[in-house]
Amino acid sequence: MSLQKVSLLKENIKSYNEYPFNIPLIKNLSELQFKNNVTFFVGENGSGKSTLLESIAVKCGFNLNGGSQNNVYTGNTEEITLSDHLRLSWLPKVNNGFFLRAESFYNFATYLDELNQEEGTGDVYAPYGGISLHKQSHGESFLSLFNNRFNSKKALYLLDEPEAALSPARQLSLLKIIHDLSTKSNAQFIIATHSPILLGYPDATILSFNEEQIEETSYEMTEHYQITKYFLENRKGMLNKLFRED
Ligand SMILES: Nc1ncnc2c1ncn2[C@@H]1O[C@H](COP(=O)(O)OP(=O)(O)OP(=O)(O)O)[C@@H](O)[C@H]1O
Ligand SMILES: [Mg+2]
Repeated sequence: MSLQKVSLLKENIKSYNEYPFNIPLIKNLSELQFKNNVTFFVGENGSGKSTLLESIAVKCGFNLNGGSQNNVYTGNTEEITLSDHLRLSWLPKVNNGFFLRAESFYNFATYLDELNQEEGTGDVYAPYGGISLHKQSHGESFLSLFNNRFNSKKALYLLDEPEAALSPARQLSLLKIIHDLSTKSNAQFIIATHSPILLGYPDATILSFNEEQIEETSYEMTEHYQITKYFLENRKGMLNKLFRED
């Protein structure tokens, strides 16, 4: 593990009325400790998971549209000022890693295609399965990335909803990749997810983004686990109740 702690430096925050400081749990954040090679961010839609993950990515020098420090390109990058107020505590500092954001993965694939048109850039597809990511399905291109690009030792991988493109079987493949890299290469993962499969990774730290603060929780206490379990065990009853006219 290398990223030990994220601290919010409050001295220069001018106003708490605007995004991202108007998000209650960002406002209340002072520091977040990482105790584990695999940490999940869970919580309701809009609770602030991506905001924090993206800000950590910017602070690491990773591109906001997805990519590593070597992938410098400008997409429709939004200014996020939270990163200016974050301090990252490392032991040791790593420069390798990747930020994967499902919603801007398309832009990243386009960027690689453009780079491939330029002279002297070599085989830009080599780390991504040898062909353009646009010529692979959404899930295939994700897995190509995971299988080929995620190989550095001592790396930090920040993933925002990687399950978006993956079938349940491929989510299991991702769990295996996470397991191999975090145990054999000591890679660190911070993953925002809604997937009850990914969350099942053994011994991960699960940080729940609640209304007012971020709290550690267990797999079985997450809504993702409880609702999915209940749905699978009581599908008919649950749907009848859901669809019942009031
Ligand atoms: N660029 C922005 N400008 C203003 N508000 C924003 C911006 N991006 C996000 N927000 C707001 O900040 C809050 C947190 O958004 P964020 O994307 O971090 O949520 P999230 O936890 O990742 O949700 P989800 O599970 O749906 O991905 C939301 O209320 C959202 O509407
Ligand atoms: Mg999000």
